[in-house]
Amino acid sequence: MNGHNDPVVLTDPDASDRFGAALAKLVVPGDVITLAGPLGAGKTSIVRGLLAALGLAGEAPSPSFAIVQPYAPPDTILPVLHVDLYRIDDPNEIAELGLDDAAAEQLTIVEWPERAPAGYWPDALALTLSFTADGGRALTALVPAPWRARWPLK
Ligand SMILES: Nc1ncnc2c1ncn2[C@@H]1O[C@H](COP(=O)(O)OP(=O)(O)OP(=O)(O)O)[C@@H](O)[C@H]1O
Ligand SMILES: [Mg+2]
Repeated sequence: MNGHNDPVVLTDPDASDRFGAALAKLVVPGDVITLAGPLGAGKTSIVRGLLAALGLAGEAPSPSFAIVQPYAPPDTILPVLHVDLYRIDDPNEIAELGLDDAAAEQLTIVEWPERAPAGYWPDALALTLSFTADGGRALTALVPAPWRARWPLK
């Protein structure tokens, strides 16, 4: 059973950045984090905060162009695959991206997991962002067993 939790309120872009940085303290190779939510919900903002806290200097590019953007030591303290499935039209294309090839050795973080078949990443920390009435963001999490002891973030 996956656990649902109270929403985390991210009042401004800085809060999204800090949330990504807090995630960075907990991730281990083999983890998958999915980031769902509408266009402009703040998915990449969290990834940028996470990558910066993992040591990446300079701003991470949005991977929408590349679909799969890898990072590796020494640029980041662990290998990271930043995936953006926005441009995937057919779920069958996802198998061709080779996302599973080194999944055990790296952190995989996926924007637009809605483009993948349901249940594609059963062990992922599944985050969903939505807009709040006052211009911020609310984040809800589906927390699978590998993440139970790590959630909520401190
Ligand atoms: N907590 C927040 N409150 C208000 N604005 C935010 C928050 N987090 C991020 N933003 C802003 O939302 C905008 C969109 O952010 P971002 O590019 O991260 O969204 P996205 O979900 O990755 O978009 P896309 O669907 O295009 O991939 C940016 O201007 C960013 O600064
Ligand atoms: Mg994005």
